[in-house]
Amino acid sequence: MKVLIVGSGGREHAIAASVAKSDKVDKIYCAPGNAGIAQLAECVAIGAMEFDKLVTFAKEKAIDLVIVGMDDPLVGGLVDEMEKAGIRTFGPRKNAAILEGSKAFSKDLMKKYDIPTAAYETFDDPKAALAYLESAEYPIVLKADGLALGKGVLICNTKQEAIDGVKEIMEDKKFGSAGNRMVVEEFMTGREVSVLSFVDGNTIQIMSSAQDHKRAKDGDQGLNTGGMGTFSPSPFYTKEVDEFCHKYIFQKTVDAMKAEGREFKGVIFFGLMLTEKGPKVLEYNARFGDPEAQVVLPRMKNDIIDVCNACIDGTLDQIKVEFEDNAAVCVVLASDGYPVSYEKGLPIEGLEAFDGKDDYFCFHAGTKFADGRIVTNGGRVLGITAKGDDLKQARKKAYEATEWVSFANKYMRHDIGKAIDEA
Ligand code: AMP
Ligand code: GLY
Repeated sequence: MKVLIVGSGGREHAIAASVAKSDKVDKIYCAPGNAGIAQLAECVAIGAMEFDKLVTFAKEKAIDLVIVGMDDPLVGGLVDEMEKAGIRTFGPRKNAAILEGSKAFSKDLMKKYDIPTAAYETFDDPKAALAYLESAEYPIVLKADGLALGKGVLICNTKQEAIDGVKEIMEDKKFGSAGNRMVVEEFMTGREVSVLSFVDGNTIQIMSSAQDHKRAKDGDQGLNTGGMGTFSPSPFYTKEVDEFCHKYIFQKTVDAMKAEGREFKGVIFFGLMLTEKGPKVLEYNARFGDPEAQVVLPRMKNDIIDVCNACIDGTLDQIKVEFEDNAAVCVVLASDGYPVSYEKGLPIEGLEAFDGKDDYFCFHAGTKFADGRIVTNGGRVLGITAKGDDLKQARKKAYEATEWVSFANKYMRHDIGKAIDEA
């Protein structure tokens, strides 16, 4: 069969690597892809938001399955467009992707169906938001309603910071139209855990847990990024936490979406905070995490095509999604200066060191070909993943492998997975 993957980052490279393992697949295309994905797939120069071109391409090539990796096309309705053209597509339709596309929607859903989350208020008008801040407790969390590249969340320690935040989001429109509405939320403390899951509209099967490191610098300092590294599983995601989440969060979310007439098929990513009062939902995403996919998918035992098909066909109850009893760590190699400003186009050396090594993966995030060489093409450049018997071994191997590749402004955090030593 022929598969088309939509996206161009490390997550899509990890998806492509899983798809490539399936003996059902003869040919993989990726739009637009990157220099690493090009080793597994034929990359086509169509952007993830060019819906008409993507549909035309999928029809022309008689694609059997489209897998949409990124949030923007999902929230924009690419799955609906593909389905209208009769093309099987893995991912939520537009009316379900709103679970990620609107924080106000997801908060209202959780409130209505009694799914544990932080207390909140929603505002359409900056004046009302500013008035609310007068009697609020601090710290407080401001969230732009729509998609904002993972950057639309401001944690404000003081009233003044929150006032400035409301101005940035709702008046200066720092995150564009994502800031037309805003959620103001209670500040929670605790460990964060990501749980990704496969959903077929009714049945949910969770993947192995993971944890992201969002800040740019060691010790969780510096600016928020798309993610500087991940590890899986999370030792903080215990059996008790898992039982609680199954009872009060996972199935309830799937059922709530169905009850709202927004049947969800695809991946639901639960961003959880393990608070003193139990696990609470920080956010939902409607797709694999990046770089969570880079530590979760290499550990999945199933053929990913079977799982995608089961989600589309509503037969997920007939298979069991299983993971290896090991661990993985992914360290992101970024361009120095990310997430603010950085140089691109720098040659990358040493990539061939990963050839033929089963436990090591070099997932490309921002790379391209230039004059016959692979060069840097983004803030996050590569995700170096290693599998090990346990997290400590995986971490050691991943950091060893970060030394195999070089480029002029290579930057990484040195404490990815360090929290596991405390567990
Ligand atoms: P989100 O995009 O909603 O996951 O938010 C990004 C990050 O902001 C999360 O991973 C948390 O670290 C932090 N965050 C979001 N909401 C809250 C909250 N209510 N309390 C504390 N931290 C939060
Ligand atoms: N790593 C967080 C995300 O994909 O949203």
